Amino acid sequence: MGFTAVLVLPILVVIAAGVYYLYTEITRLMSKSAVRNKVVVITDAVSGMGKECSRVFHAGGARVILCGKSWEKLEALYDTLNSAADPSVTFTPKLVVLDFSDIDAIPDVTKEILECYGCVDVLISNTSMKVKAPVQNVSLEMDKRIMDTNYFGPITLTKGLLPSMISRRSGQLVLVNSIQGRLGVPFRTAYAASKHAAQAFFDCLRAEVEEFDISVSTISPTFIRSHHQQPEPRNAEKSTWKFFFRKFAHGVHPEEVANEVLRTVNRKKKEVLMANPIPRAALYIRSFLPGLFFAVVAAGVKDVPLVEEDTQ
Ligand SMILES: NC(=O)c1ccc[n+]([C@@H]2O[C@H](COP(=O)([O-])OP(=O)(O)OC[C@H]3O[C@@H](n4cnc5c(N)ncnc54)[C@H](OP(=O)(O)O)[C@@H]3O)[C@@H](O)[C@H]2O)c1
Repeated sequence: MGFTAVLVLPILVVIAAGVYYLYTEITRLMSKSAVRNKVVVITDAVSGMGKECSRVFHAGGARVILCGKSWEKLEALYDTLNSAADPSVTFTPKLVVLDFSDIDAIPDVTKEILECYGCVDVLISNTSMKVKAPVQNVSLEMDKRIMDTNYFGPITLTKGLLPSMISRRSGQLVLVNSIQGRLGVPFRTAYAASKHAAQAFFDCLRAEVEEFDISVSTISPTFIRSHHQQPEPRNAEKSTWKFFFRKFAHGVHPEEVANEVLRTVNRKKKEVLMANPIPRAALYIRSFLPGLFFAVVAAGVKDVPLVEEDTQ
């Protein structure tokens, strides 16, 4: 019995891995076709994650409207996408300059976005500004800039696009958020507060717009590797342990998050958490054993430099 189990178990594991691989490949291909012809707006299309999202949706045949603060970066992205794509199955991207720190300009930008194709099927709110510093080193001005970029800007654009979605009784709103929208950790006061606010806004909105067939999704990664760090060569992932350790130590690659955004749009998932077991456990501990959570987090506090742009 024991000997048979030793023989059968690896075969079962290999079969299960094969089935899982096939399943993910098929769903990936199906996700691509599901966005074909859809009008997809991506805010901050030029950052690490935004670029990958733009590439994935553009290659999937979506009519992408790429938004970003810098026209030069948008044009560079436009060239990259056009040169890599098959023109027979892709649409030429539209470009729109969007700076969330200028809230008063957002109604005009919304109009410009709607004029591109007359409607928007999917809005992917991806923009964010990060700061990591002790609270006394973050000025109120900085707090406000972060709230504008991470909360007031995205919700103003969402509110601007909603009437058109409601009248068409169709639309998808996707917020790329962060686990810090669910958990407060030291030295991230402004960032975590803005992400909590955005999470709450979209959670409330989900229930309000369901009757109009508008879906709302939030995707919360823990740590996305910066874009210039390329994935390790495939052979480094032959060891399962290395595979998990790599993810744990370095976070997920923007491409993995972009593919998850695509799957989320395709399946209209309401909430996605991209996290390893430790942050997942932290979420449960925060809910059920808050005293323990606060004690562990306080124990981890160390000196950090003055105000700086965060890298994660
Ligand atoms: N990176 C991570 O580890 C991580 C983890 C969890 C969640 N996330 C979430 O994933 C999303 C993408 O993050 P990312 O790390 O790919 O971004 P990123 O590399 O940090 O880039 C931030 C981008 O936001 C732009 N930006 C800043 N202020 C803006 C404003 N006022 N208006 C318009 N654009 C503005 C920046 O443009 P300029 O460079 O021109 O200033 C830059 O392109 C964010 O929502 C983030 O919260 C990231």
